[in-house]
Amino acid sequence: MGNQLFATKPLNRIMAEAEDVGEASLRRALGPINLVTLGIGAIIGAGIFVLTGHAAAQSAGPAIVVSFVLSGIICAFAGLCYAEFASLIPIAGSAYTYGYATLGEIFAWIIGWDLILEYAFGAATVASGWSGYFVSLLDDLGLHINPKWITTPGTQMVFYKGHWSELDAVQQTLSAAGVNAAALPHAVGAFNLVAFLAIAVVTFILIVGIQESANFNSAIVIVKVAIVGIFIAIAGAFVLHHPSLAASNWTPFIPANTGKFGDFGLSGVARGAAVIFFAYIGFDAVSTAAQEAKNPQKDMPIGIIGSLVICTVLYILVSGLLTAMVPYRDLNVSAPVAVAIDATGVRWGSLLVKAGAVAGLGSVMLVMLLGQSRVFYSMSRDGLLPKWAGAIHSRFRTPWISSIVVGVCVAIFASFIPIGDLAVLVNIGTLLAFVIVCAGVWILRWKRPELPRPFKTPLVPLVPILGILTSLAAMLSLPAKTWWRLFIWLAIGLVVYAFYGRTHSKVRNSAPR
Ligand code: ALA
Repeated sequence: MGNQLFATKPLNRIMAEAEDVGEASLRRALGPINLVTLGIGAIIGAGIFVLTGHAAAQSAGPAIVVSFVLSGIICAFAGLCYAEFASLIPIAGSAYTYGYATLGEIFAWIIGWDLILEYAFGAATVASGWSGYFVSLLDDLGLHINPKWITTPGTQMVFYKGHWSELDAVQQTLSAAGVNAAALPHAVGAFNLVAFLAIAVVTFILIVGIQESANFNSAIVIVKVAIVGIFIAIAGAFVLHHPSLAASNWTPFIPANTGKFGDFGLSGVARGAAVIFFAYIGFDAVSTAAQEAKNPQKDMPIGIIGSLVICTVLYILVSGLLTAMVPYRDLNVSAPVAVAIDATGVRWGSLLVKAGAVAGLGSVMLVMLLGQSRVFYSMSRDGLLPKWAGAIHSRFRTPWISSIVVGVCVAIFASFIPIGDLAVLVNIGTLLAFVIVCAGVWILRWKRPELPRPFKTPLVPLVPILGILTSLAAMLSLPAKTWWRLFIWLAIGLVVYAFYGRTHSKVRNSAPR
């Protein structure tokens, strides 16, 4: 019995399922460009538009650029491993299925459960960031939503310079400006209704169809990359014309550590890398669309690696410019990129950035929710989750019930949990998935060397080992309470497995006894 915990799902069976066609299957509609845009659609989001500002202000200072390089390196190792698996086992379950094929059922379950942290909580994090930009855009247009409905319960808000902001986030800016916070209008958050509604709309689009979702995504990605490009152009010109301002904002490049791990200094750069790691998440989500790709063997690696490379270059430029334009301490706001562009005096720039972020973060929510419902689809087909989680709508051909259940839960997380807490939980969960995927590539090379691998991770086992070590290092830079939350989450998962998956698993039930 114990051995069955480590039962692996035979690769030929996995491949046969991937070949399924017909009403109960997903539609193969995506080409290489769709996959790269799907990746960029998932990657550029709340990480660069929101969390970069928080991480620069609270952990790394201008050295946030170095944090981006470090995190990019971790993702490069993991991306190469994902690319090998995605071309070898092109099936919707992504890391979950790779785990099942290599490490065994219990690992597959752990990783599937862990991916909920990445995708469902990831979508919630982005919805929270989206609400910040959306509300700020409306404020600029003179439309003010009641502050009770724009943030999580109990958050103290103050009205300053035309916007409702979180008191904690603007405290330092207020003190530096000699403003008495107590004299400003106050409000307390009740529920982030804006984030809730955002998830509801995206869930609806997802149910209507994969082609519609991909088209919506491609359109948004063009807008998003254009906005980032415009930001780089305006900000780059500004920095070139104000080199002394940039030099003073970049000095000291690594602010001195305050005595606490992660508060500036080298540990702050490491903490910054572990936080803005969130900005890179999404290239792996490409692999969940493998069953919807026309030619997954060839196109999955292009989608994964192509989107990662493009985003890494953009991130290094954006983060460097951001901290050169504005003192890093002023970036702890809900729309830091807009604040930076305001500093250039280009008046339309900030409106444009906010509008672009509102559209752009929409596509991230879409791909994250897509990934989540596809992982549930795979787990349910394996019997580890109930049948309804994999039910495909006969007309739309999408896993509609799991999309609705996921949508409702994510909307609730987004409206109740603050963005900072959500993001680090997503990061630790995703890094754990990276560790397992990197280990899986290595193990499968060794157990099944003969398998045809359309894309091969270079320098195995070096690249997988570096992927494992760097991911673990980033996990260790996260706060202790994040670790506790991860353990509690995994413990809940094991209870669910013990009472449901263990007895319903199709692999176990068909395994020779
Ligand atoms: N990388 C995605 C974002 O930053 C998840 O929003």
